[in-house]
Amino acid sequence: MLQESGAAVLYVVGADHDWVEDAQGRRCFVHPGRFFQRTARTPPVPLVRAVGAARVIVDGTCGLGQDALVLAGTGAEVLAYERSRVVHCLLDEGLSRLARRDDALGDAARRVTLLEGDVARADWPRGDVDCVVLDPMWDRTFPGAQEMQTLALVADGRGFSPETLRTLAARVPRLVMKLPANGRGPDGLTWTGRVQATRAAFVIADGSGEHGAGGE
Ligand SMILES: C[S@@+](CC[C@H](N)C(=O)[O-])C[C@H]1O[C@@H](n2cnc3c(N)ncnc32)[C@H](O)[C@@H]1O
Repeated sequence: MLQESGAAVLYVVGADHDWVEDAQGRRCFVHPGRFFQRTARTPPVPLVRAVGAARVIVDGTCGLGQDALVLAGTGAEVLAYERSRVVHCLLDEGLSRLARRDDALGDAARRVTLLEGDVARADWPRGDVDCVVLDPMWDRTFPGAQEMQTLALVADGRGFSPETLRTLAARVPRLVMKLPANGRGPDGLTWTGRVQATRAAFVIADGSGEHGAGGE
């Protein structure tokens, strides 16, 4: 699996959790992160505001699962897709571990269904999903993003073509894409809204799907 990824990293199965470690000894693994601060915050964090009212959400780029957990922390069911086999393996261990906790984080982890594969080929029943969230592997150089740089070694960094964005948006009332703070929505969709955060921005494409305008 690591040979397939072509990355110079170790996959370590530890006593308490698994992690990926790069040549500089930097590690990344699935952990609570700022789950409790993010879910307790009023008004809701920018990602949750961008998604709006949603019962079922597809996280099409699950990564280390931070956003999926925050979204599941709102009570939504999250279908979480991950295309990299290495990252999927890390997530499988991490989400199962968190799901054993007897607290809000455990509840959230139990509402995340992890699926291996390309979200562009995902096959959920039409009408069942309220929003798709995408957070492609942008070049993140802001402080505190070290684990993202380690993750980038094993993650899928191909991004989304305009055609894929249109196909995904056509299947749901709302599509949200996370960008760097000063980023603009990529070509392919008409972006109808934006929620600005300090270190990121969320652009919203509403109403391209068969269900018409959705959301808040
Ligand atoms: C920037 S990370 C996402 C971080 C995540 N939002 C979090 O909160 O931890 C992007 C992840 O999406 C995955 N990915 C990229 N394109 C994908 C696709 N088409 N389908 C499924 N996963 C994809 C990458 O392998 C990578 O792990």
